[in-house]
Amino acid sequence: MSANQTPPSATYDSAFLKACRREPVPHTPVWFMRQAGRSLPEYRKVREGVPMLESCMRPELVTEITLQPVRRHNVDAAIYFSDIVVPLKAIGVDLDIKPGVGPVVERPIRTRADLDRLRDLTPEDVSYVTEAIGLLTRELGATPLIGFAGAPFTLASYLVEGGPSRTYENAKAMMYGDPELWADLLDRLADITAAFLKVQIEAGASAVQLFDSWVGALAPADYRRSVMPASAKVFEAVAGYGVPRIHFGVGTGELLKLMGEAGADVVGVDWRVPLDEAARRVGPGKALQGNLDPTVLFATPEAIETKTREVLDAAAGLEGHVFNLGHGVMPATDPDTLTRLVEYVHTRTAR
Ligand code: CP3
Repeated sequence: MSANQTPPSATYDSAFLKACRREPVPHTPVWFMRQAGRSLPEYRKVREGVPMLESCMRPELVTEITLQPVRRHNVDAAIYFSDIVVPLKAIGVDLDIKPGVGPVVERPIRTRADLDRLRDLTPEDVSYVTEAIGLLTRELGATPLIGFAGAPFTLASYLVEGGPSRTYENAKAMMYGDPELWADLLDRLADITAAFLKVQIEAGASAVQLFDSWVGALAPADYRRSVMPASAKVFEAVAGYGVPRIHFGVGTGELLKLMGEAGADVVGVDWRVPLDEAARRVGPGKALQGNLDPTVLFATPEAIETKTREVLDAAAGLEGHVFNLGHGVMPATDPDTLTRLVEYVHTRTAR
């Protein structure tokens, strides 16, 4: 154990944390992005009539939803049920999550005056998170809880566009046309994100994942210049806790090395780059997470096994591997398929 790591906790020897630390594991650990949520009937039942953002502010409900996939699938880690826009809502940004659309911001951030409306986040703004994580860690025992946040670029994409986008034209217009305003916006978001991750770690999260879901829209040179400093600031701010830091984005094949350099201990990979090739791109000293295409789960059981085996074979020489999908569980996925997948990976990698 290195000097800056916290003393062994109930979760310290879990397969998940060992894999993140690149230590030998009894089996390859598995969890799924979006494992808590829409694919589960028990989730749809408890969410009935409760708007998404409101559900994130109810500690008992968050606890129940976070635990559902752990009970059902025997995954090796839980992920805190929330959304990347929750800390923005908590500091007063006028946003909502519209069913079937996603996060929508009423007054997008386009000017310096707009940016000035974004204040810092304090633990009191998200006391329900501290409370829910307290409840959760008691229930989870030796199963680690992953905290998470949206990365500055992905948060900025919603704030500047005003909602989901395919092209990020307003965000890129600011990035190229007013680099100073852009840099200040990302720096402010880095502080908010870092504060939000600290709340989760101090409440008991065993690892954190920074979701830069949409950063694959950028070329490496633009990522390095205009995004990486803010993401690096987030990772640096939580480095002292000694909890593994995971960094994930979609379509980031050309960015994997830089995303590792930003400060991650584990680099998340989508399904477009095989894990052995991803390891060459990332370089030594990092674990990898991924990367079964989530749409494979709609194929026959035989096809799912073949594709899973391909992922495990490509991961065979890695320093550390956390099995996951290459992006979130799709809503129509049969939950039993996920349960079988966990079982298959555990059995196939048992050592
Ligand atoms: O499970 C569910 O989808 C129902 C609850 C829900 C979440 N987010 C949970 C969530 C709903 C309705 C949303 C709204 C939302 N937020 C959307 C709508 C479209 C969609 O995919 O359902 C989108 C795109 C967002 C923005 C967002 N949230 C992004 C880009 C990310 C990063 C992960 C990713 O998918 O790329 C999130 C995180 C998020 N939202 C999690 C959960 C449970 C994250 C943690 C996890 O992986 O479980």
